[in-house]
Amino acid sequence: MEISHFFTDADRYAKEDHIACSGQDEDHERYFGAVSAPIIQTSLFVQKNYQAYCDDMQHEAERFIYSRGLNPTVQMVEQKLAKLERGEACRCFASGMGAISAVLMANLNSGDHIILVNNVYGPAMALIKQMTRKFGIHYDVVLDGTTESIRAKIRPTTRVIYTESPGTMTMNIVDLSAIAELAKAHNITTVIDNTWATPLFQKPLTLGFDIVIHSCTKYLGGHSDLIAGAVITSQARMAEIRDFSHQLLGAVLSPFAAWLLLRGLRTLPVRMRAHQENVMQVIDYLKTRPDVENIRHPCMADDAQQTIIRKQMMGFSGLFSFEIRDGHFAAVKRFIDSCRLFKVGCSWGGYESLIISPNRGYNEPSLAADNIAPGLIRLSIGQESPSLLIADLDAAFTAIAGMRG
Ligand SMILES: Cc1ncc(COP(=O)(O)O)c(C=O)c1O
Repeated sequence: MEISHFFTDADRYAKEDHIACSGQDEDHERYFGAVSAPIIQTSLFVQKNYQAYCDDMQHEAERFIYSRGLNPTVQMVEQKLAKLERGEACRCFASGMGAISAVLMANLNSGDHIILVNNVYGPAMALIKQMTRKFGIHYDVVLDGTTESIRAKIRPTTRVIYTESPGTMTMNIVDLSAIAELAKAHNITTVIDNTWATPLFQKPLTLGFDIVIHSCTKYLGGHSDLIAGAVITSQARMAEIRDFSHQLLGAVLSPFAAWLLLRGLRTLPVRMRAHQENVMQVIDYLKTRPDVENIRHPCMADDAQQTIIRKQMMGFSGLFSFEIRDGHFAAVKRFIDSCRLFKVGCSWGGYESLIISPNRGYNEPSLAADNIAPGLIRLSIGQESPSLLIADLDAAFTAIAGMRG
């Protein structure tokens, strides 16, 4: 499958994005010409005298005083991520969930209503349910993501529309500019978890969204060696998030994790290209298999979804799922255990290809209630040679031949 079929203008942001990821616009002289920025591993910045301290405290958000507030290594990453998302401001957090909880806590008061559009990351949903119980937040879920369905759920108390596109597991695409337009008309803040696409392949702020969240643990870090989150938005919105959820809840990023993230970002454009090329080849292979059904990846989208994809995306990443036809737990288990190159693991976005299934044997009844097929397999396609990945899957299909049904 040719990627040009989906994206006619995939490179429209490429030049600026390459510069933001590289060290090209970094001030090397500030650090003795070091081409790799140093890790400023300090909690505290001492001031030359008390008056300097008093002055800094008046401009706390922009000064290096204490690393829970601002740290130069963390700030370098934040500036790069803000550029990549075309946002005015970025703050990093200790995890993707730290970023999600900070945004929700800053934007919802008790009695407020939030609309969750599309299938969102399970723990984000679990957090909303906790906020319902603890703080009296109300929520509705709109799975089809159409503006008509969202409009029907808007209440006078609706403050936030929160989405993922593609949606977790289903990979359903929603029309981001249409949602942003609807939300603006009702003075509702729009939030998107953009982890799957990365800022290279989707820039929601340019489509009218207000706040973008990332789990940098995935593609942005890219090497399965850090946990981090980020929020990118306007200066005004960031002031509220910073003052309350960043400073007072305090789940901030450490300088060392920020440095790893900085290193990961250097290669983001080449890595994402490789993920995209590899996943397309693996899906082309899966499409030839009679024992595979329901491949869920945006490259398999129907015509209506393809129109939206062309409008708002610039590429595809490598996380997707498929079903073993007539699959069941024993077949899923043998399939996964027959893979040598694909490692068993629940995260994604790193070098190594990963495989898991929501089917753990003991939970088949609850999967059926959620309409999840027992033969569902999730793959994160990494950087290994696609022919080796395909050979690995081929051997796994051979291992389960005759086990279906
Ligand atoms: C879509 C999505 N958002 C957010 C998160 C949470 O990120 P973290 O694990 O860095 O807290 C994840 C983690 O898997 C995720 O898949």
